[in-house]
Amino acid sequence: MSLVFACVDIPAEPWVNALQKELPDLEIEVWPNVKNLDEVEFALLWGNWNADLTRFPNLQAFLSLGAGVDHILALDHRPPHIPIVRLGDPSLQTGMVEFVLYNVLRFHRNFQKYEKQQSETLWVEQPQVSPSNRSVGLMGLGSLGTVCANALINLGFDVLGWSRRDKEIDKVRVFSGGQGLNKFLTQSEIIVCLLPLTRKTKNILNEENLKKLPPGSFVINAARGGHIVESDLLKLLDDGHIGGAALDVFEMEPLPKKNLLWSHPKVTVTPHVAALVNLESAAKAISETIYCCRNGLPLKNIVDPIEGY
Ligand code: NAP
Ligand code: GLV
Repeated sequence: MSLVFACVDIPAEPWVNALQKELPDLEIEVWPNVKNLDEVEFALLWGNWNADLTRFPNLQAFLSLGAGVDHILALDHRPPHIPIVRLGDPSLQTGMVEFVLYNVLRFHRNFQKYEKQQSETLWVEQPQVSPSNRSVGLMGLGSLGTVCANALINLGFDVLGWSRRDKEIDKVRVFSGGQGLNKFLTQSEIIVCLLPLTRKTKNILNEENLKKLPPGSFVINAARGGHIVESDLLKLLDDGHIGGAALDVFEMEPLPKKNLLWSHPKVTVTPHVAALVNLESAAKAISETIYCCRNGLPLKNIVDPIEGY
């Protein structure tokens, strides 16, 4: 039996080596070089896989090489009974906390203004606000949103969170569901999107919702490009309602060279690197999933295909 590695634009060799170290008895093949489709038990996926899924009769699980599973849920003819497992790699949390803290602090302490001032040789002091008087709203309080919320609490910020279901996190003002969204948005001066991309969250940061943020708010998107309507964001950046945006993810990746976001003075662009998967810890997490699957043990990080995450 085998695992097929089908991760678009990701060099296979380091992954095959790391996985083979954890799973010496499992044959690992790199798509499309698969000897016998009947033998494939696990598909490790990233990006758009264009295989005919009806030709894998013994597939046991779809494994995502990332926390997000939107690429797997979007596959044509995906057999609905086969479980989808997202990556539970702890290094994703570390990377995301670093990305979120860096960008929150940059906006909170006006470093984007100092960068501009330096280019104009201007020596001007910007006001300094106490973190307890700065509200940061996390959209999504899952594995990544929760660690980011706690890191921001430790720095003294006024932290709000929004999730699908109600929950309690110490010192975080949690809002939930459609009825909680307005209250959450109207009080968040810096918003951080850490939602999964689902039919309910697609385009959630559209003009209507972005306008609910307090004037001059900042937007950080480290989730998926499909959460933001780029043209709406550009309009609100230009009219001043949004003070700045730090964007790591985009509707189209790589971000096309002609996209206006690249050169917008209030936008920073990073190439989908907020939290990169770590080879060793991810290979361990994947091997644990395979062990559980083969031994009939409950799977961690299993996805609810109806909710889409
Ligand atoms: P997660 O553990 O599944 O958490 C998802 C959170 O979103 C949960 O709090 C969930 O609410 C909330 N949510 C889902 N649907 C919602 C809805 N309709 N309304 C309100 N809240 C909703 O996911 P995660 O591991 O934190 O990852 C989040 C996303 O980050 C991933 O899906 C991926 O797209 C992205 N990501 C990006 C990078 C990068 O480098 N840019 C790296 C890793 C991940 P409940 O708590 O009520 O379930
Ligand atoms: C990265 O985007 C991930 O989903 O892990």
